[in-house]
Amino acid sequence: MSDFEIYEPREDSFLLQKQIKDYAKGDVLDMGTGSGILAAEALKYADRVVAVDINPKVISHCKKLYPAIEFRESDLFSNISADKKFDLIIFNPPYLPDEPLAPDIALDGGPLGFELIECFLQGVSDYLEPDGKILLLFSSHSRPAMIHKVLKKKGFRYKLIATEKLAFEELYVYVISRFPVLHSDISLDMNVYNIKKDLKP
Ligand SMILES: C[S@@+](CC[C@H](N)C(=O)[O-])C[C@H]1O[C@@H](n2cnc3c(N)ncnc32)[C@H](O)[C@@H]1O
Repeated sequence: MSDFEIYEPREDSFLLQKQIKDYAKGDVLDMGTGSGILAAEALKYADRVVAVDINPKVISHCKKLYPAIEFRESDLFSNISADKKFDLIIFNPPYLPDEPLAPDIALDGGPLGFELIECFLQGVSDYLEPDGKILLLFSSHSRPAMIHKVLKKKGFRYKLIATEKLAFEELYVYVISRFPVLHSDISLDMNVYNIKKDLKP
């Protein structure tokens, strides 16, 4: 792999970070940990935090900073034992369409921007406790309608819990569960409902 820099936390990181206190408990996995900002936040509330990243530079950097967190190099779930189940899995993924002239492993989410998220959603159930939850961030550039399709196909419940408008995109944070505890159409507030309507395929 080329020598990619560690992703410096920005609006997406901070928006997701704010949601963690309401969901982190027990065992938490931070997928694509970057600077470790989300793993460190989760550690305030959880018993144990495992954090992985495909970028080896991230792992050696974070291991020194946060000795209480277990950091591992992994391409999605490739280096996580299938016996291990988590109460919460957090992912601020690369969520933009690939830029072939300026590749960036922290940003490139696949040709249309949602493909890596799709791979994550295909595999994540094997690592989730039956009542576990996923906090996933993506953007208006990630083909939200395609992500909704994958979520429905995999039988997940999902609810939009936070949004932020930036200059050229809008960010979304979803809480996702395969356990039928989220009655999204009932509990959504007006703002979220409007956003959901806008996102329809
Ligand atoms: C948008 S950054 C988020 C970093 C950090 N979690 C944050 O919120 O600031 C995405 C991270 O995912 C990592 N990543 C990209 N592809 C991955 C993969 N296939 N498996 C694991 N991590 C990956 C990148 O190296 C990068 O650190």
